[in-house]
Amino acid sequence: MARFLGLLIATLSVCLQAVLAQNAFSGAVGFGAIATGGNSGSTVHVTNLADSGTGSFRDAVSGSNRNIVFDVAGYIVLKSAVSLSSSITINGQTAPGGGIGLMGAEISASGKSNIIIRNLRMRQGTMDSDTGKSAFNMGDAKNVILDHCSFAYGQFDSIDAVGAVNITVSNSIIAFPIGQQFGAHVETGPSTFYGNLWVSAHNRQPLSKDNTQYVNNIVYNYQAAYTSANTGGYFSHDIINNYFIAGPSTSSAGDDYYQMDNKQSVYATGNFLDSNKDGALNGAAANSVGSAVVLSKPWASTSLGLATNSAAAAVTSVLANAGATPRDEVDTFAVNTVKSYGKSGTIYKSQADTGLSNGGYGTLTATSTKKRAVQFAV
Ligand SMILES: *[C@@H]1O[C@H](CO)[C@@H](O)[C@H](O)[C@H]1NC(C)=O
Repeated sequence: MARFLGLLIATLSVCLQAVLAQNAFSGAVGFGAIATGGNSGSTVHVTNLADSGTGSFRDAVSGSNRNIVFDVAGYIVLKSAVSLSSSITINGQTAPGGGIGLMGAEISASGKSNIIIRNLRMRQGTMDSDTGKSAFNMGDAKNVILDHCSFAYGQFDSIDAVGAVNITVSNSIIAFPIGQQFGAHVETGPSTFYGNLWVSAHNRQPLSKDNTQYVNNIVYNYQAAYTSANTGGYFSHDIINNYFIAGPSTSSAGDDYYQMDNKQSVYATGNFLDSNKDGALNGAAANSVGSAVVLSKPWASTSLGLATNSAAAAVTSVLANAGATPRDEVDTFAVNTVKSYGKSGTIYKSQADTGLSNGGYGTLTATSTKKRAVQFAV
């Protein structure tokens, strides 16, 4: 019997390894899920919060085939943009206490490939004098998955993904962009946006000049939300079970879909729009997407399988789970803003205008009584 159990466990673990080999992590979804990062590489510890040097984040991400873990919590104040290497996994959930964040400059995967980032806070803000940079840049990158991350105070975009191939942004909070006040810009693709919370932006949530899967996203206090910007290009979009919620900055709730011309082909179902700003979630179906061509079935074979939550169920789930773990001051503020359902929300010009601690960046505690998260926990 013991022998049989041993064999069974061995077999199961071989199966699990096979699953992990094909997918970034258990539960990874979308086009970026094929990334394997540095999962099979060497483990590199970030041991201090310094901008550079031995034990720093910048040093840890300077080589490929690395699985990066954190022995420290708090903000790393970047003096300049930090460039990631290909084939790395960044496990923010390994940090103790309040978790790990990067502030003051761009995190860039530009031109790189095969990257997994989880539970990382990326908050550029006005500390960065380069207004042409974003919170996260993956221009011309391929096979990248960002999961349970928190993006805030991006100046050019929160996420810039021009020329990016096979990307996923899932279960993340993309909030309070300053500067151009834009969410995400994707060209080339394909891209997947799943289960994200987008809060208080002018536009680009996302700007999608590619074939896109957009499932279970919640967009709050937008001026424009999902757009293709009348691009001239022919793209396909699966837009399923998302909830658009107007806020104080929403002057035209009908810009939930924006500049979607007849070169765009769209499969839209299960989407809702709550336009009345009355403090309660009580939207109506919203599946009419500009002058786009209506698709009778999704362009991507995996889109319907992703859409297990209705738009309303996604609101509950995303508000409870999106963003880096553990949830911190900035993300709590973002979530509470959404929970006002139309009553509060500002499109900011600076992180300082939020009134949060630490000049608006919020505080990440170094210690916590909570048990340290296991490396690959969701
Ligand atoms: C993108 O992903 C597909 C599988 O979905 C793969 O066949 C293709 O090679 C990937 N593209 C690049 C540039 O790696």
